[in-house]
Amino acid sequence: MGVTDNGGKPDLSQRLRNWRNKLVADAGFQRRVARFPLTRRFARKQSEDMFRVTTGFVQSQILFACVEIGLFDILAEGAVSTQEIATRASLPLSSAKRLLPSARAIGVIRPAGEDAWTLDDKGAVILGNEGIRAMIRHHGMVYRDLADPVGLLREPGRQTETADYWAYAGARAGEGVSDQDAHTYSALMRSSQDLVATEILDAYPLGKHRKILDIGGGEGAFLAAAGARHPDIGLATFDLPPVAARAQEIMANAGYKNRFEAHGGNFFTDAIPADADCITLVRVLCDHDDAAALRLLKNIRRSIAPSSTLLIAEPMDGSDSGDSLAAAYFGLYFLAMRSGACRSPQQIQSLLETAGFTLSRKISTRNPLFARVIIAKPTGSM
Ligand SMILES: C[S@@+](CC[C@H](N)C(=O)[O-])C[C@H]1O[C@@H](n2cnc3c(N)ncnc32)[C@H](O)[C@@H]1O
Repeated sequence: MGVTDNGGKPDLSQRLRNWRNKLVADAGFQRRVARFPLTRRFARKQSEDMFRVTTGFVQSQILFACVEIGLFDILAEGAVSTQEIATRASLPLSSAKRLLPSARAIGVIRPAGEDAWTLDDKGAVILGNEGIRAMIRHHGMVYRDLADPVGLLREPGRQTETADYWAYAGARAGEGVSDQDAHTYSALMRSSQDLVATEILDAYPLGKHRKILDIGGGEGAFLAAAGARHPDIGLATFDLPPVAARAQEIMANAGYKNRFEAHGGNFFTDAIPADADCITLVRVLCDHDDAAALRLLKNIRRSIAPSSTLLIAEPMDGSDSGDSLAAAYFGLYFLAMRSGACRSPQQIQSLLETAGFTLSRKISTRNPLFARVIIAKPTGSM
């Protein structure tokens, strides 16, 4: 029955919605809206939106094919003929002729005169960002897991490639993470960190802190960005031992040897160093179900100084269109990963309060698809 009033009948807004849904579902009404001059554009936009959602998988596969054949690199220097693209991508000419107009339709390339192509804006962005290309390739695996979404929804514990990939979170959580597993997921995280770090650093003045400890900081990409922007702050990460070891090496090679410490350990159970005045969790809390997220927050709370600041940055659920896109995507992604949740700021606040923190600020970023930011303090310290 849905939302009801006190008498058990649908309430007014639900009655209006029922009436509207019947009207919109009616084929005659749809024809009239599509013909009427004042509603024609609206009707067309609705049907294009619906088409995009319905065919989204095919569009993703077009993009995937473009990345896999190296199209963005082939066009890096300027316009290239269809024949030359076919040769360099090892495709029959007929297949290049099929793929390239589709790539144009999704906005990554555009025609450059007779039978030649150049990058369009979205293609130029993809060329300039290895992290986006890595994510597009990564989705080959995620989409295999999501090929049977109903099966996965009915049997959320089912074995998936995505859960195996994130060895610390899914089916193999607790078994220990091998060097190879850590290397594979950490490289993906590092390559996709640029855009996230810029959003966070523009949203919050990290420079007012003395030392940052990035918990689950991976190979140090966020700290490298923070350190470049704020040359005086100290930098430390706490991550699983194989990841911390790689972070140490990568940060030393990047010139941060004297400003950077890497601590290896388990952030659920091991003591966390207490000498930083700002603790960051970037794309970490969302990896874990509520019980584990709470264990992590409580362990942080136990370890850190009472005057410290905790910064949480990750995509969050909400009413903004970027938030809901992120929430729809991560909802299914985390299902495939068998762990984690895209939470609203209110849900994070509730976990924080249970763990002994008080939320002090919610900060919007320019692009919530990458991250929103929450600042919290140990309860009683504000
Ligand atoms: C999704 S990645 C995020 C990495 C980085 N913060 C970023 O945004 O690129 C999660 C990180 O948490 C680390 N991690 C997961 N479980 C952990 C545990 N029990 N103890 C310490 N680190 C852990 C992983 O090794 C990984 O580096």
